[in-house]
Amino acid sequence: MTKTFDVVVLGGGPGGYIAAIRAAQLGLKTACVDDWSTPDGKPALGGTCTNVGCIPSKALLQSSENYEHAEHRFAEHGIQVKELGLDLAQMLKRKDKVVGQNNDGIAFLFKKNKIEFFHGRGGFVRNGAEGWEIKVTGKSEEALTGKRVIIATGSNPRPLPEAGFDEKLILSNTGALALPEVPKRLGVVGDGVIGLEMCSVWRRLGAEVTMLEALPEFLGAVDEQIAKEAARLFAKQGLAIHTGVKITKVTTRKSVSVEYTDIAGAAQSATFDKLIVSIGRVPNTDGLNAETAGLKIDASGFVAVDGECRTNLPNVWAIGDVVRGPMLAHKAEEEGVAVAQRIAGGRGHVDFNTVPWVIYTSPEIAWVGKTEQQLKTAGLEYRAGTFPFMANGRARALGDTTGMVKMLADARSDRILGVHIIGPMASELIAEAVVAMEFSASAEDIALICHAHPSLSEAMKEAALAVDKRTLNF
Ligand code: FAD
Ligand code: NAI
Repeated sequence: MTKTFDVVVLGGGPGGYIAAIRAAQLGLKTACVDDWSTPDGKPALGGTCTNVGCIPSKALLQSSENYEHAEHRFAEHGIQVKELGLDLAQMLKRKDKVVGQNNDGIAFLFKKNKIEFFHGRGGFVRNGAEGWEIKVTGKSEEALTGKRVIIATGSNPRPLPEAGFDEKLILSNTGALALPEVPKRLGVVGDGVIGLEMCSVWRRLGAEVTMLEALPEFLGAVDEQIAKEAARLFAKQGLAIHTGVKITKVTTRKSVSVEYTDIAGAAQSATFDKLIVSIGRVPNTDGLNAETAGLKIDASGFVAVDGECRTNLPNVWAIGDVVRGPMLAHKAEEEGVAVAQRIAGGRGHVDFNTVPWVIYTSPEIAWVGKTEQQLKTAGLEYRAGTFPFMANGRARALGDTTGMVKMLADARSDRILGVHIIGPMASELIAEAVVAMEFSASAEDIALICHAHPSLSEAMKEAALAVDKRTLNF
């Protein structure tokens, strides 16, 4: 017996589960199909983000930072730690517990919103008289009909062409988040977001980390001034960064040997106990039966969508990592809400200019809007203001004075075009810049707002004052 729904969501990651909740809130009879399982075969809602992405990485980043503070920073505060020890098994157990709490939280939200959940892989069968027929293949088979379908099937890690993931020696994010021992020599291919976050965790716990990045510059997507500061600070922490690398061969025995040419074109080799490969992610359309359904996939493997996330098929939408745009959980969520509202006859809005980015290293790196190099390329006239955390009272009290806030504003209108932060709690501070940009604020608007003292947020106000060359504390 087929079950009919107003909306069937394929995928229960942040895009899919949020779309399902919003659709249900709007009175639509909603189902969500997701195939992620715990090692013992139970459903594990939340997709990549909850199971092997945002949540477990942040849990380990926090634990490893606590360890590093106890090891190197507590003494300065007059706190003596005798016989500091690392219980990695407990650290991983806590991470798994945090993941489990998030899985359960989503299952609870589904019940609360009366969303019917199906554990298994959903694929298109045909567009029937009642809507799209979907076959769910899991422990048992289910036949569903969705008057509308939202595809939110996410992404998978991209393997190196030279060697696939075995999750023992060559690790994707999945293996990198579950190492049972701290590797002595850790190689990381790709200096992107995953690479930097994972190397932070394992370096803090004692690994010697070497990064191999293909591009000639470090952190190419980040504002140049911030990227330079990050490279300087990470090198000081002991991270060996090699840019302009071309990997030619990877062989595994008991360890992993990587042959590559360096930025000068000279042949090099390195041997690691583990190698994390974080060279981007590929959209996941496996099992959707896209070809039979006639679903258009673009040349890079993404489900092709218009500006409102409509696919080429009637009543079929797609959101999150499986479509163009930044591969970020909050972007997936925003698209999920917007699509659910459009389906219910309302409006949806996602502003790609104000999607914040955060890299949860120490110091954290966060930004929104345009980088200085993008403004230069676009020929826009701008004014830049920076303020160092060194001159911020709260940062001094925290004992974390690295980095700065940098604001870029239109030279004529003073409208904020971009904000870039490297420093303590950048992930939280960036929210003020996002709000300001959403409301088309000027740098002067931020400079006029009363910020609590002493707080890190005063660095944002000072950066806004710096745009007009009138900082008060620097
Ligand atoms: P996913 O989260 O990938 O969810 C897709 C779900 O659909 C999965 O459960 C999958 O099994 C399921 N599925 C696939 N095909 C089918 C099918 N045919 N039928 C049923 N189910 C199916 N982003 C941030 O914003 N902040 C971060 O801090 C952050 N940290 C990250 C750390 C790591 C290590 C990684 C790997 C990613 C991180 N990301 C982060 C990115 C973030 O995880 C993704 O952008 C986000 O998960 C995308 O959400 P989604 O719903 O599109 O897809
Ligand atoms: P990424 O796109 O951030 O970085 C990949 C890096 O690998 C690039 O610098 C690229 O030049 C390099 N590269 C590509 N091929 C290479 C090769 N053959 N050899 C050497 N270097 C190579 O990808 P990453 O780190 O895998 O993360 C994927 C996505 O997951 C991110 O883009 C982000 O959207 C998301 N993510 C977000 C996080 C956050 O918001 N804090 C945390 C982790 C992931």
